[in-house]
Amino acid sequence: MTTLDLEKSIVETAYARWAPIYDAVCGPVMLKGRRAAAEAARAVGGKVLEVGVGTGLSFDDYDATTEITGIDLSAPMLAKARAKMTTGRYPWVKDVQEMDAHAMSFADATFDCVVAQFVITLVENPEQVLSECHRVVKPGGRIILVNHLYSETGLAAAVERWAAVKTRSLGLRPEFPFARLQAWSQSNAESILVERRKVAPFGIYTLVTFERTAAALAA
Ligand SMILES: C[S@@+](CC[C@H](N)C(=O)[O-])C[C@H]1O[C@@H](n2cnc3c(N)ncnc32)[C@H](O)[C@@H]1O
Repeated sequence: MTTLDLEKSIVETAYARWAPIYDAVCGPVMLKGRRAAAEAARAVGGKVLEVGVGTGLSFDDYDATTEITGIDLSAPMLAKARAKMTTGRYPWVKDVQEMDAHAMSFADATFDCVVAQFVITLVENPEQVLSECHRVVKPGGRIILVNHLYSETGLAAAVERWAAVKTRSLGLRPEFPFARLQAWSQSNAESILVERRKVAPFGIYTLVTFERTAAALAA
């Protein structure tokens, strides 16, 4: 039994508090996962949407082979991302916008790749966000997620269930099962799971990649 999905208001309050200290605390801890996702996105190249871009910690992980657009619910997190953009170090970052991933304003099939790093487990309706990501990615394009996912069994799972209750108000959720992501993909005829792998060195994070099938183009 896992906890309920986080409400939007909890997430907004939590990330307004996280914004001033986010880079110092979450920068190093999540580095490997973030890099693995950006590397997979660079392999696709072209127009990349970062959902829940946060403070823009991933900007360093891209290059001129990509054009990055970021969205986030949190104005204080985005203010940090915008400050990074004004340094001029990230010409590949085109724009960041305050936007809810449940209802994006982008046209269908806008992006070659959609990346969500440490986001899908804490949105109010993960299936709706996945469907929005699917809608805005081009046929043949990819959705790349990286997260800590629920261990399902044993002591680790018990600790994660305990921690989920304690860390909820911090906008964190350590017991989100992979099965939910898989079920979403299986329910969508134009989505296939192309990769699920643990990220080295400790395997704390899981990288999950879905492809929007080219069949969607023919339809
Ligand atoms: C754990 S942080 C990850 C930030 C960044 N991706 C990183 O790797 O550092 C989660 C981010 O997702 C954002 N977020 C949560 N729910 C969202 C939603 N519904 N729409 C857009 N962004 C959302 C939060 O505001 C926060 O900035």
